[in-house]
Amino acid sequence: MLTIDNLLFSYGTIGTLRGISMQMPPGRMTCVMGRNGVGKTTLIRNIMGHLQPNAGMIRLGETDITEFVPHRRARLGLALVPQGRQIFPRLSVEENLKVGLQARRDRVRSVPEEIYELFPVLKEMGRRMGGDLSGGQQQQLAIGRALAGNPSVLLLDEPTEGIQPNVIQQIGRVLKTLVEERNMTVVLVEQYVDFVREFGQNFYIMDRGRVVADGVTQELSSELVHKHLSV
Ligand SMILES: Nc1ncnc2c1ncn2[C@@H]1O[C@H](COP(=O)(O)OP(=O)(O)OP(=O)(O)O)[C@@H](O)[C@H]1O
Ligand SMILES: [Mg+2]
Repeated sequence: MLTIDNLLFSYGTIGTLRGISMQMPPGRMTCVMGRNGVGKTTLIRNIMGHLQPNAGMIRLGETDITEFVPHRRARLGLALVPQGRQIFPRLSVEENLKVGLQARRDRVRSVPEEIYELFPVLKEMGRRMGGDLSGGQQQQLAIGRALAGNPSVLLLDEPTEGIQPNVIQQIGRVLKTLVEERNMTVVLVEQYVDFVREFGQNFYIMDRGRVVADGVTQELSSELVHKHLSV
């Protein structure tokens, strides 16, 4: 279980996270929703340790990880698929995946076959440069790179942004497999409501640094969507 307790964060004088509390259990996809600029990426970067909160606590199981550097969090099982993918354009697909291996605690130093089973296109494209892949392929690569570290908690920041529908569906199916068959904790930042309804179990909606609604995705009513998510 990933637990966030009353997290506060500000870039300067304006509070960006203003007391965020969330619970993200294993075997569930927890979706964090909200309009542009409400603090979703800021939250994810605090969870991963790229930003340090002003107050509050982040726990993985019973372990308080609030002060841990990102690398230590990765070793404990957290992995991030960042917004905008951030693959290495001048490294091959296989080399990109190998970067993800660094988070592992075992001695596996080659890309596990299961990554290619989840995303066959990464095998076909193994020697291509990351920068030469399509957007959808790069997104699959970014997820594959995160999975190469054998995480127990997978954080994804808007993975469907700018991706074509058939790849979105494939990503959804992979995440469903990870949740249902590996009991993974998946935390998905997502503005695409249909995807949340189809693949997610729990949701939180953020607005201006606070949680304004939460529940199971069956309760994600059109009223909530209209009030907090529609532009
Ligand atoms: N490095 C930074 N320095 C100062 N302000 C920042 C910085 N990064 C983000 N912000 C501001 O913090 C607020 C929250 O940004 P954040 O990126 O967390 O939002 P978001 O919910 O992820 O938005 P989006 O849906 O567009 O990705 C915004 O007002 C943004 O302008
Ligand atoms: Mg963002």
